[in-house]
Parts: sequence; structure tokens; C-alpha cells
Amino acid sequence: MAQLKPLPIFSSSLSLLLLALANGVLCFQENYKPLSLKNNNLQWQQKKKTAGVSTCSSQKSRSENGATILELKHKNYCSGKHIDWNKDQQKRLILDDLHVQNLQSRIKNKISGNIKDVSSTENLPLASGIRLQTLNYVVTVELGGEKMTVIVDTGSDLTWIQCQPCKSCYSQQDPIFNPSTSPSYQKVLCNSSSCHSLEFATGNSGVCASNPPACNYFVSYGDGSYTRGELAREHLNLGKTSVKDFVFGCGRNNKGLFGGTSGLMGLGRSVLSLVSQTSSIFGGVFSYCLPSTQAGASGSLILGGNSSVYRNSTPVTFTRMISNPQLPTFYFLNLTGITIGGKQLRDSGFGKGGILIDSGTVITRLPPSIYRALKAEFVKQFSGFPSAPGFSILDTCYNLSAYQEVNIPLMKLQFEGNAELNVDVIGIFYFVKSDASQVCLALASLTFDDEIGIIGNYQQRNQRVIYDTKKSQLGIAGESCSSM
Ligand SMILES: *[C@@H]1O[C@H](CO)[C@@H](O)[C@H](O)[C@H]1NC(C)=O
Ligand SMILES: *[C@@H]1O[C@H](CO)[C@@H](O)[C@H](O)[C@H]1NC(C)=O
Ligand SMILES: *[C@@H]1O[C@H](CO)[C@@H](O)[C@H](O)[C@H]1NC(C)=O
Ligand SMILES: *[C@@H]1O[C@H](CO)[C@@H](O)[C@H](O)[C@H]1NC(C)=O
Repeated sequence: MAQLKPLPIFSSSLSLLLLALANGVLCFQENYKPLSLKNNNLQWQQKKKTAGVSTCSSQKSRSENGATILELKHKNYCSGKHIDWNKDQQKRLILDDLHVQNLQSRIKNKISGNIKDVSSTENLPLASGIRLQTLNYVVTVELGGEKMTVIVDTGSDLTWIQCQPCKSCYSQQDPIFNPSTSPSYQKVLCNSSSCHSLEFATGNSGVCASNPPACNYFVSYGDGSYTRGELAREHLNLGKTSVKDFVFGCGRNNKGLFGGTSGLMGLGRSVLSLVSQTSSIFGGVFSYCLPSTQAGASGSLILGGNSSVYRNSTPVTFTRMISNPQLPTFYFLNLTGITIGGKQLRDSGFGKGGILIDSGTVITRLPPSIYRALKAEFVKQFSGFPSAPGFSILDTCYNLSAYQEVNIPLMKLQFEGNAELNVDVIGIFYFVKSDASQVCLALASLTFDDEIGIIGNYQQRNQRVIYDTKKSQLGIAGESCSSM
């Protein structure tokens, strides 16, 4: 960091240093960090070509001190397709916008008691898969003795996979599960408590089939994508840990852009989620470290809460989960402040209502007044760089193609109970173009003040994020995800 740099960079760091000093900030190192603009995250497509079908389900796992550690990969590893980096980055933002619009309208519907009104959210420009397209991370588990790679979702509850015989299945990389070849497969009966839990967990009650009296489920992700099938029990292996009679959805009619995966793992808050069903083994605690989108990067999903297994580099700080009876499956937190380059933002919007933490939203959305304060401070501190046009939801962009490296002001999100999320240096700028000619502040404003804020996965990268559903608290610590 202290090495000689070409003049433009040197002078920009100097001006930032002077600015930091002018603000009365003593520790330069903590408030600014260099971000390399060349050969960093942008080599996806070149390396991707060699990654094929096999990478989808060849993921590592291990057990340690009562916890099970599964390797977490970016979903692009599963698609087996050539990916154009620029197009992929740009499409992801547009889909993220649709995903959040859809989420907001689902939330509004639920709050106004309109739970059944699914159709009102279906008039979006893209017919399907918006939500699932933005759920970027996958893990591999074993169900009924078969390996399956599934999307990890903290925003829903029911775990499901595609099942034979399919009425309508999308194409997936691994073979589709065939229950008739598994002696441990059992249908869930429609008079069982699991079947009754469906309504709370998915918003749709179980439907009884007549003979045999099976329980049929339906999960709609509100954007036109859905899964429909029968509720069943099967042996689930998470790494070396066996879970007998795990309740899941055997999906016979599934639609959406699930990116070649076998299905989805629901890590929400209700009794049907994987967290609840495994709470006697793992104590209702799970955590993740989301890797960057760099080729080859992997993170981890840890089931179980013994902190000795974390590789965190800063102490874990905890904040209370706020309960929202109308949105029981989501995790809400109380955002009390933000600092930019060590400077505390002032806004009356902090500490009001809950902000949702979601693994399936990419870009963090803030209430308009908070976003305005953040943008103003960021622009003030990151000054002297040529600006570039905004893109989609991102409105604070720069052309940094002339620079090798820039020093950027770091961001801290503060939560009730003095918990802090120190956003990693890779979570501040979004590269719309890989040549750095359009690099944007990776946070966005909500359209209205009454919409619900969301902490997106881009700002959660290289963090250990711990969900303790028993104590109803969320822990955060810095961690470099790549070490499995
Ligand atoms: C966590 O693991 C360590 C090392 O095995 C063990 O000594 C400790 O008792 C465990 N803590 C809990 C709460 O299980
Ligand atoms: C559910 O129905 C089955 C037969 O259809 C019956 O044997 C069982 O006792 C019932 N279970 C409950 C919990 O009512
Ligand atoms: C959030 O935390 C602040 C500071 O502890 C507190 O004053 C405020 O009432 C909390 N807000 C909610 C919605 O719980
Ligand atoms: C970005 O800046 C470089 C050099 O500073 C310039 O050559 C290039 O045209 C700019 N690109 C755009 C899209 O403005």
C-alpha cells in the first residue's frame, strides 16, 4: 500500500488523506483502503470455460466441533455456460431491481392482509425467475443417497428439489431425484402437523390428495416462478451429518430460472425451514461467508454455532433480530447508523422500523433520506475522479479506467447493540464494465420512504454472518471467505 504509485493515484490518496485529517479522523488506515482496479474480480469468463458440469456438485464439506461446514459457491459454477462478464453484471442489476420491486409488493400485500393476492405481482416485465436469478449461492447436500446442488435462500422456508416423474421440470445439471428408487422416501400425510405448517411457511395451505392421502404443496415466489409437488420425508446428509426424516418438497411441476440447480434450501424462520428441522442437532444456528464473484472463489455455509469453527478476523458483534409477525420468514434488524470513511452520517431515518437482511438481494437498498446522506458524504470524500453515467439502480458512478488502484472510503453499517458490519473493500463499488470505465457505488435508494430497506449480499461478502434463531440475534464479523 505504501509503495510508489503513478502520479494521479498518489495525488488522489493525498487529497483523501488531507480530507480525512480535515475531518478530524486520526486513523487513515481504518477509514480508507486501496482497491485494485485491474486483474481483480474480472476474470470470470476466461477461467469459466474450463469449469463444466462436474464443478456443480463436487463441493467439499467437513465437520468440526459439532458444526457442519459446506462449501458455498457462486451459482454461475452450475450453469456450465460461457458467461459474458459485462452482460452478466449488467443483467444482474436489472434483475435485482425487479426482485426488489417484487419483494416490496409482496410485503405490501402481506401487511395489508392481501396474502392470497399473488396475481397482483405477476405483471412484471419478466415472466419468471427474477427472485431466483438473484439468489446467487449454492451448496451440495445428499438426499436419499443422491447428491444435489441447491440454491441457498434465507428468505423462504421450504426446501425442495425436482422429483420424478416430472409433470414439468426445468433442466438441471445433476440427475433428477427418483423417489421410487429410495427405500427411505415417505410421503407426508395430509393430516400431519408438517402439512398444516405449510400455510404459515409458504402462504399456501397444503392440499390433500385422496388416495393415498398425501399432502400437496405449492410455493410461489411471487414473480411467476414456482414449485408444486408433494410433501415428503427423506434422509438428508449435510456433509457427514445425517438428518432422518427431513421434510421437503418433492417438486413435480417447477418453473423459474434456477440456473441448473436441483432445487432450493430454505433457511427462513418457520418450523419447516432447514434451520428449524435441524435445531436439535445444530441448535438453530447457521452462518455463511459469501465469497466474491471472482472465478474460483468459494465461501462456506456453517450449520451449528460453535464459534471455534469460524475463521473470523475481527470479533463477532451481535444485534437483536426484530420480529415482524406479518413477515414471519424474514430476518429483520434495526439499522442505527452508517459511517463513511469514519464520518458518522446524520439522518432521522436511522433506528426506525426494521431493515431486512437477505442473501438473495444483491444491492443494499436504503430509505431515500439515508441514501441521500450517504451519497453526499461519499461523493465529498471520493472526489477528483471523472464521473460516469449511472446504470439501472446505481446513480453514483465513476470512470476509473485510467487508474491502477484507488483509495476508497470504507463504510460501516451499525446496528442496535453496537453491532457493526464493516463492508469489505470489494463490497463498495460495483463494476458495471470490467475495464473500470463505469464503476458505481454499490448501494441504491428505495423509491419511497415507507418501503422496507434491505441489506444485500454484495455488502455481506467477506463477512461471517451468523443467524442464531434460538437467541433471536444476528452476529457479524470480518472473515476472508476463501479459506474452507
Ligand atoms: C466448541 O468446540 C470446542 C473445541 O472442541 C469445545 O471445547 C467446546 O466445548 C465447544 N463449545 C460448545 C458450546 O459446544
Ligand atoms: C392420519 O390419517 C391416517 C390414515 O389416513 C391415520 O392412520 C393417522 O392416525 C392419522 N393421523 C393423525 C395425526 O390424525
Ligand atoms: C433501534 O435501536 C435504537 C437504539 O438502540 C432504539 O432507540 C430504537 O427504538 C430501535 N428501533 C426499533 C424499531 O426497535
Ligand atoms: C474513460 O476514461 C478514459 C481515460 O481517462 C477515456 O479514454 C475513456 O474514453 C473514458 N470512457 C468513457 C466511457 O467515458
